[in-house]
Amino acid sequence: MKSYRVAIRGGQVRALARGVLLRSCLGGPLGLTPGIVMADKPIILSGMQPTGGLHIGNYLGALKQWATLVREDQHDALFCIVDAHAITIPYEPEKMPGLVLDAATSYIAAGIDPDQCTIFLQSDVPEHMELAWYLSAVTALGDLHRMTQFKEKSDQHKENVNAGLFTYPVLQAADILIYKANLVPVGDDQKQHLELAREIARRFNTRFTNVFPEPQAKLSRTPRIMGLDGKSKMSKSKGNTIGLLDAPKTIEKRLKSAFTDEKKLRLGDPGRPEVCNVFTMHTALSPTDQIDTIRADCQSGALGCGDCKKALSTVMLAELEPIRARADELNGNPKRVLEVLKDGGARARKRAQATMADVHTAMGLTTDHRGYSSRS
Ligand code: TRP
Repeated sequence: MKSYRVAIRGGQVRALARGVLLRSCLGGPLGLTPGIVMADKPIILSGMQPTGGLHIGNYLGALKQWATLVREDQHDALFCIVDAHAITIPYEPEKMPGLVLDAATSYIAAGIDPDQCTIFLQSDVPEHMELAWYLSAVTALGDLHRMTQFKEKSDQHKENVNAGLFTYPVLQAADILIYKANLVPVGDDQKQHLELAREIARRFNTRFTNVFPEPQAKLSRTPRIMGLDGKSKMSKSKGNTIGLLDAPKTIEKRLKSAFTDEKKLRLGDPGRPEVCNVFTMHTALSPTDQIDTIRADCQSGALGCGDCKKALSTVMLAELEPIRARADELNGNPKRVLEVLKDGGARARKRAQATMADVHTAMGLTTDHRGYSSRS
């Protein structure tokens, strides 16, 4: 049977994401009419800032899950490097291109196959910024004031609390909605931004017409990796990280210093794996039967933190080995990475422009004298 792609509206995509087969109510012999066939796969979008030196928290919290989702091939996935978000905190313009290249290299090295998904740079698709402006007109000021990431970042950068930092979540909503994404795989610090993106989609759909599906957050198995100091989330600015591409010796050494359960002071003391960051990393990296043994032996006191960390080193180094090798290879061929971005940007932009045509129509921002394509 011939298959045809059809333009589908938000509600139908949502139904599909729940595994419902889209059928034509006109009904052919199989309930399928040429022209209206099973729709496309659910759409995934996620992104990360090009802050340089991605770490194991980025990898276990997000990148590893992205790579798995792409490999499973059940979704239509786009992954963005959000440089336009990165300018809302102090940065050095001359370093940005290198940081973008590093981020793209890390995405690919982490196993996200650019032939199976779209990897692109946010500023290559200026329609994100255009949509963000339109969405700002259906975003409540009160909602933006409640965003904890804004509060944290404005505390961190008191000397530069700019309007972009405040409207950051609106641009994030635009990143997601412009691809009519259904699922957004992120770490748990992004749950609040996702809730807001859903609210913005609802408000837009209610105020105008039903253009956007409501995107759902999809958390990884380990959505929150703490820093080695055990005090806060692993984060480059806190210096409590293990770099994704650190040398094996460095990783071993850094892991030795990692904070564990503060109540487990000596060998023999029973531990609490559920509060231990080293155990959390085991759950992301070790085979299931080993995780169960580690949990039991930690709880009984049989396993000391030193040995537990050694076991973690072993599985972490094994996991990161091929990633380092791929990154080395790509660093020797930056052209290949730039091509991925160029190609991904062109594909993403086409899709974004199609959505913007819907948005312009819905909002009455178009007239007969101006077809969308003549504006690009
Ligand atoms: N705010 C996200 C972070 O700090 C990055 C981001 C920007 C993002 N746009 C996005 C994540 C869209 C998911 C979807 O990690």
